[in-house]
Amino acid sequence: MLDRLTQLETEALAALEEAQDSDALADWNRHYLGKKGALTQMLRSVGELPKEERPAFGRATNEAKATLEAAYQARADALRQEQMQRELARGTLDVTLPGRPIGPGHLHITTQTLRQIYAIFAEMGFQVYESPDVETDELNFGLLNMPPHHPARDMWDTFWISDEVLLRTHTSPGQMRVMRKRCPEPIRVILPGKCYRYEQITARAEHQFYQVEGLAVGHGITMADLISTLTEFARRFYGPERHVRIRGSYFPFTEPSIEVDMDCILCGGDGCRVCKHSGWLEIAGAGMVHPVVLENGGYDPDEWSGFAFGPGVERPAMLKYDIDDIRLFYGNDLRFLRQF
Ligand code: PHE
Repeated sequence: MLDRLTQLETEALAALEEAQDSDALADWNRHYLGKKGALTQMLRSVGELPKEERPAFGRATNEAKATLEAAYQARADALRQEQMQRELARGTLDVTLPGRPIGPGHLHITTQTLRQIYAIFAEMGFQVYESPDVETDELNFGLLNMPPHHPARDMWDTFWISDEVLLRTHTSPGQMRVMRKRCPEPIRVILPGKCYRYEQITARAEHQFYQVEGLAVGHGITMADLISTLTEFARRFYGPERHVRIRGSYFPFTEPSIEVDMDCILCGGDGCRVCKHSGWLEIAGAGMVHPVVLENGGYDPDEWSGFAFGPGVERPAMLKYDIDDIRLFYGNDLRFLRQF
């Protein structure tokens, strides 16, 4: 019996040296020291021995068990060390390699487009005037000739913050802010900014987008000034060969109101997918400032006149760079943004 024990110990120690990884080590542990392991079984068989041999055998078995456990622990530590050495060797850091440069980034496509628009209007004498995104019902609608319950309010699906406060649905409330600030001086400004509409998001409509309002107030300003200003803008932004077309429209804050179209930049008017086979692209709503609006801004409509227009910003960029989905602008996908 004692011989068998010594043999088992020798065999176990040899097997332990063979174990090269943690799986092999776990197998070894189960095989020799586990509940059904060889040593445990040997300990159980102590009952088969004559009484006087039992204490000596029990002691020897416990000693063997302690030896094997210590050897197991030592082997496990050694294997862990070896593995760590291997990993360190593999991941050696070459501190002399040059670092990875962090790119400086660049302006968002919308910002670039806005800056092109500012530059064009700046050359025509328009200043940039900013007005807030969070507006009152009064400025967004009321003072623009749309009292409460005016049906034209339905043209703008609105994000309401309270009964009187909202996210501006267009940049037109800025008209009133500039007029009240500048009156009685003549005005020539653009008002760029984000607008918000409670709308279904599609490839052509976002609930947040930019507009650039234009406003000129002075003496003897006519529709001819409005049309020539927008024609000039279209030619500078899209190319000198562009033509514009005017259609009658309706806005409560302009009279008369117009819709300004431009011949399609892709097909030149023959009809294609971009212009939905009409040959024309809508570029802005516009019109002569309504007398009520002039008056609300402090200007006497018998003495003063003015024009206003409100093109978007993403749509012109979509046309110019052939982008077919407005959702790409604010989707934060660098693969898209890096192209511009
Ligand atoms: N504010 C109008 C819109 O958002 C556009 C517009 C601006 C029309 C100025 C006329 C004058 O649809």
